[in-house]
Amino acid sequence: MCGIVGYIGKLKATDVILNGLKKLEYRGYDSCGISFLNEENYKYVTYKTPGRVDHLINSYDYKMNNFIGIGHTRWATHGKPNQVNSHPHSSASERFIVVHNGVIDNYKELTARYLQGFSFISETDTEVIADLIENFAKTMSTEEAIRKTLSLLEGSYALLVMDKEKNDTIYAAKNKSPLLIGSSDKGVTFGSDLMALVGNSDYYYLIEDKTFIVAQKNGKTTFQAYDIIGKSVKLQQHKMDLADNEIDKGGYEHFMLKEISEQPAVIRRIISKYLINGILEVSEKTKNLFKNKKRIYILAAGTSMHAGFIGRFYFENLAKIPTEVFIASEFAYNPPLLEKDALFVLISQSGETADLRTCLVNVKKMGYEVLTITNVITSTLAREADHALEIYAGPEIAVASTKAYVAQVTVLAILAYVLSEEKPFDLAFELSRLSVAMEAIIDKKEYIEKLVEKKLKKRNCFYIGRGIDYYTSLEAALKLKEISYIQTEGFAAGELKHGTIALIEKDVPVIAIISQKAINHNTRNNIQEVRARGATTIIIATEALSDSADDIILSDVHEFLSPLLTVIPTQLIAYYKAKELKLDIDKPRNLAKSVTVE
Ligand code: F6R
Repeated sequence: MCGIVGYIGKLKATDVILNGLKKLEYRGYDSCGISFLNEENYKYVTYKTPGRVDHLINSYDYKMNNFIGIGHTRWATHGKPNQVNSHPHSSASERFIVVHNGVIDNYKELTARYLQGFSFISETDTEVIADLIENFAKTMSTEEAIRKTLSLLEGSYALLVMDKEKNDTIYAAKNKSPLLIGSSDKGVTFGSDLMALVGNSDYYYLIEDKTFIVAQKNGKTTFQAYDIIGKSVKLQQHKMDLADNEIDKGGYEHFMLKEISEQPAVIRRIISKYLINGILEVSEKTKNLFKNKKRIYILAAGTSMHAGFIGRFYFENLAKIPTEVFIASEFAYNPPLLEKDALFVLISQSGETADLRTCLVNVKKMGYEVLTITNVITSTLAREADHALEIYAGPEIAVASTKAYVAQVTVLAILAYVLSEEKPFDLAFELSRLSVAMEAIIDKKEYIEKLVEKKLKKRNCFYIGRGIDYYTSLEAALKLKEISYIQTEGFAAGELKHGTIALIEKDVPVIAIISQKAINHNTRNNIQEVRARGATTIIIATEALSDSADDIILSDVHEFLSPLLTVIPTQLIAYYKAKELKLDIDKPRNLAKSVTVE
């Protein structure tokens, strides 16, 4: 969702910030802006626009020298995505300039109490923060005024503040919303996501909640961190191990296609990370979390929840632990009656999903242990859980999740396998075989592109499957709808006839997934039912269960691992349909990569 970048140092700040904002585009946003100090006349400049960062770059002049600035990509929560509401926001006298991610829950109360007589230009809660600082700065130092403001804010924030009376300083603070610092001998960069720091930081630092930072250019640029009462704190330094080429398109037309193509390599990377002396293993700490647990509760959202459904299948069938899966936003406010000896497993690509964070706080309060499975091991959900398992998908830039889903399912399989007493098959071997089968279907992508052109012609579509193929149908449907905007539903194949079959008419596409021997026959009967009503069918089946007339035939893999293979053609179907419709594949409308509001 919203993105923040700030810079102070030897480089041209606008270059660093605009470049950083481009790298955060994948998170989703609808307007953007930048403020910086023009070194030639020592005046601050603010440019803002609805729409893309490219528009911000192309519409304004950045020729002037500048060494300090802050920028923002906004995903509208309070007020429309227009120029006025985009960040940065200034205080009433324009002395303070602020960018903010998050939501201030008590901004109306604070306005009533401290800002009588102030008038506001925008509809945002952020402008209130700028004015509160200005109000307190009448009688306090800048640092004290910001700290006083922070002490009053309820809700989530990652904040950067510039004071026009202190041209050499950026102030930063965070609570619940992510914010990191990057440093090198060229300066200090702030970013709401590690991506924004890549390319100009040798080290990065994670900021704890309620920490206040002062970055200053005084010859060299340095920063100092303080806790809420002003006591100096030390932040742990991490070496930056991401390079710019890991977050570019690498010759592909879209990040999504690149990420789909990376999946076989992701499987091999995960095997190598979890293989210890030739055996798939997880740490003792991970295993201990499962000791004496009678039930597992999986919490997640969207695609990660679909990975959770497959995870449940693995936990129950391999580790023999009863498992339930819940939508995080539902669980947060409507939890069911819970088993006492249970473990919570949170699955999140970004590790920042706000619905999950609410669940995490709630279940920790109830005394439960939490394991987070995530792609971002430095994320909030990873840090606040009892333990975290990394999925090693590498940076996922396309909003539609593909390789992270496959990585989540793979790590869940490994975890359940390690916990199982009998190891019914050699998982490492089967995963390597799977990666080859994945490559084979990715190589046939042009064929899938043509199939999509020929058979997917309507504005609605159905995916059907049974058992774990049903879970893949849910994920396949989400992928198609989120990037092609075609209304698509995933159905348990046998359930269609209990109502929804009424929607089947001539040429409505029904895509069936068949990878489970025990229910092949039943799913094929359901296919006949929809064909009899005029549906255009696409059948995706594994070789041993296939019929020569099937549309996409996949190599045979272990049945437990088939969801990792059957999902690939569905990702390609979504990709090529969106491409045919000339849509913004990597940044679909209304969506954000990291959903940091509830
Ligand atoms: C869809 C997609 C979303 C995410 C969901 C949860 O392609 O990516 O449905 O899965 O927003 O996000 P994370 O996994 O970051 O918690």
